[in-house]
Amino acid sequence: MSFGLQAQNAVPAYLDPAKPLEERVENALSLMTVEEKVALCHAQSKFSSAGVPRLGIPEIWMSDGPHGVRAEIEWDSWGYANFTNDSCLAFPALTCLASTFNPELAARYGQAIGEEARYRNKEVILGPGVNIYRSPLNGRNFEYMGEDPYLASKMVVPYIQGVQKSGVAACVKHFALNNQENWRGHIDVELSDRALYEIYLPAFKAAVMEGKAWSIMGSYNKFRGEHCCHNDLLLNKILKGDWKFDGAVITDWGGAHDTDQAVRNSLDIEMGTYTNGLTTSGTFPYSEFYLANPFLKGIKAGKYDMSLLNDKARRVLRLIFRTSMSPNRPWGSFVTPEHSKVAADVAKEGIVLLKNDQNILPVNPKLYKKILVVGENATRKMTIGGGSSELKTKYEISPLQGIKNAFGAQCEVKYAMGYASGPSAYGREIPSKLNADTLLNEAIRMAKDADLILYVGGLNKNHFQDCEGGDRKTYDLPFGQNKLIGELIKTQKRMAVVLVSGNAVAMPWVNQVPAIVQAWYLGSESGNAIASVLSGEINPSGKLPFTFGVKLNDYGAHSFDKLCFPGDSIKEVYKEDILVGYRWFDTKNIAPQFAFGYGLSYTTFQVGKASVDKPKYGKNDTVKLTVSVANTGKVEGAEVIQAYIQDKISSVPRPVKELKAFSKVILKAGESKVVTLELPVSEWGFYDETTKTFKVEPGQFVINLGTSSRDIKQQIPVTVE
Ligand code: BGC
Repeated sequence: MSFGLQAQNAVPAYLDPAKPLEERVENALSLMTVEEKVALCHAQSKFSSAGVPRLGIPEIWMSDGPHGVRAEIEWDSWGYANFTNDSCLAFPALTCLASTFNPELAARYGQAIGEEARYRNKEVILGPGVNIYRSPLNGRNFEYMGEDPYLASKMVVPYIQGVQKSGVAACVKHFALNNQENWRGHIDVELSDRALYEIYLPAFKAAVMEGKAWSIMGSYNKFRGEHCCHNDLLLNKILKGDWKFDGAVITDWGGAHDTDQAVRNSLDIEMGTYTNGLTTSGTFPYSEFYLANPFLKGIKAGKYDMSLLNDKARRVLRLIFRTSMSPNRPWGSFVTPEHSKVAADVAKEGIVLLKNDQNILPVNPKLYKKILVVGENATRKMTIGGGSSELKTKYEISPLQGIKNAFGAQCEVKYAMGYASGPSAYGREIPSKLNADTLLNEAIRMAKDADLILYVGGLNKNHFQDCEGGDRKTYDLPFGQNKLIGELIKTQKRMAVVLVSGNAVAMPWVNQVPAIVQAWYLGSESGNAIASVLSGEINPSGKLPFTFGVKLNDYGAHSFDKLCFPGDSIKEVYKEDILVGYRWFDTKNIAPQFAFGYGLSYTTFQVGKASVDKPKYGKNDTVKLTVSVANTGKVEGAEVIQAYIQDKISSVPRPVKELKAFSKVILKAGESKVVTLELPVSEWGFYDETTKTFKVEPGQFVINLGTSSRDIKQQIPVTVE
């Protein structure tokens, strides 16, 4: 009798936090009905999917996005729910994080945003994004980590590990090849296996295999004829086969199109579908999603094997046990001073000083009575607009506020808008009602009376700017800014340009403006960070995570016909192949405006003579490269030492440079340190399309050691046997 009682009271394994994850999953699965399992595989609201109410297994709540936890959305529409407790901290967008070249900051960033998501009771945060910067017109580049697969890999792994410490799943997106917004729902991307494996997949692979991401988001586009949210090659073969991903594949919202493919090609959770083809509005019952009733019917009719459903349900259960049912889940925290500090540190380290002639920067307030700040971006909120990464923030310090705080006590700081863009609206442009000539004339009149002009412009989060759902139409600065900057130059006043953007832009005025700062979308601490760099409180150390070309046609993707970019509306062929970003510019000998990895400092550095630990290496060896770096200037600063390999003789064409290691070193004035870079030779190979493996060919390699992809200080020959 006592045995019976014990059995009745025993906690089932799935509820026992001490039991191993897989045992809990199997136990839960064994207790579930077919209907309960199917219910796990699709949305129940705009941003949630069901749990198993009968068994006390919680629902999954998801939220955008990569640089802050988005405001609550209504149950069944894209409208905001108007909660009053959901104003978050905005972290800098991921282009800024990538520019820090500092993986430790990525870990702090991930942890802080994970804590925010946890506090808001989210199981999944829909980020980070690691689509490769292929064209400067892509409206979503600001959400991603630049053009280089190695840099993105090194930054995404600690971000994910940081997020998941809070028992919140990172959802790496958009897998894969969603490198533009035009026709994103159906464009069919074609590219070589080499380009796929060498350029577009590595950051995802690192996110899965090293970062151990618990979920991944399929992309909207097609790849080799199949939508990526249910793509056999990407999901069955590569992600779950080769990379052994054990988490859940989530669709992008409205990214599923077919029950059969969704069932067989590894889609686990379907979100955002409307079968009328729209994803923005409509009423369509969740029970009719591709992975809802149609799936259930198929199972009952014997069309789909039960093992297909069990595999999906297992993955969703794993996601739940790793998050809401994890025994180690902390409570999280929201808009704390610690999180603000992380956001500020990333913003300050990510800002890139592009040009600094005539010692314009840092601004010495003793030299100026009147500072004029010109440009709409000095006052514009950059967390509004942009698409799904839009945020409702607790606070956002504008650049103008930051500049006033920094210099207002010593100088008179005035402001002229100079140009106007109009309000942000999803999917459409609303031109400003303000008169452009009046704004320009006012700015010029005020500039004539100023001693220093701080121009704060760039792009913004409007449609056709840095925004989801549409790409930029041109490489130029929008809203008449080139004309305005030209007129400001004519006043012959001292001047610095601060560009707030997530993309490169044409700079026809580059030679006439003495100082240029690339400031990204910096989030809540934006103005503080910009002002601290302008004032010299912070010595800039950011490095560009993508190439700034002189003109659009200088980029690989724009060097061919329309089929190469943006495609013919049906198909797109990546004809530049593996030569993306600096790989293109350097191999084709095209001088960039500002190179990948480039960024100035207020101090100077000297890179000593580097040495490697051996003259010859085997394919499984790691090259240990040491080099001393000295700060030869007058203030503390940080330099990023970068190593690019070149395979001198290869059986296939290779880029002349490929980043394979970097290290950021902080040095006091006069200090020097020895930097050690480790380069595993196994990572120097190319993807061999015949054997379908990475291959390192023995022979001569060169390690190009420098402080940007174009500022190579030394070439170190290395033999691989
Ligand atoms: C975006 C995703 C986002 C999702 C949910 C989609 O439009 O592409 O990045 O996570 O919406 O808002």
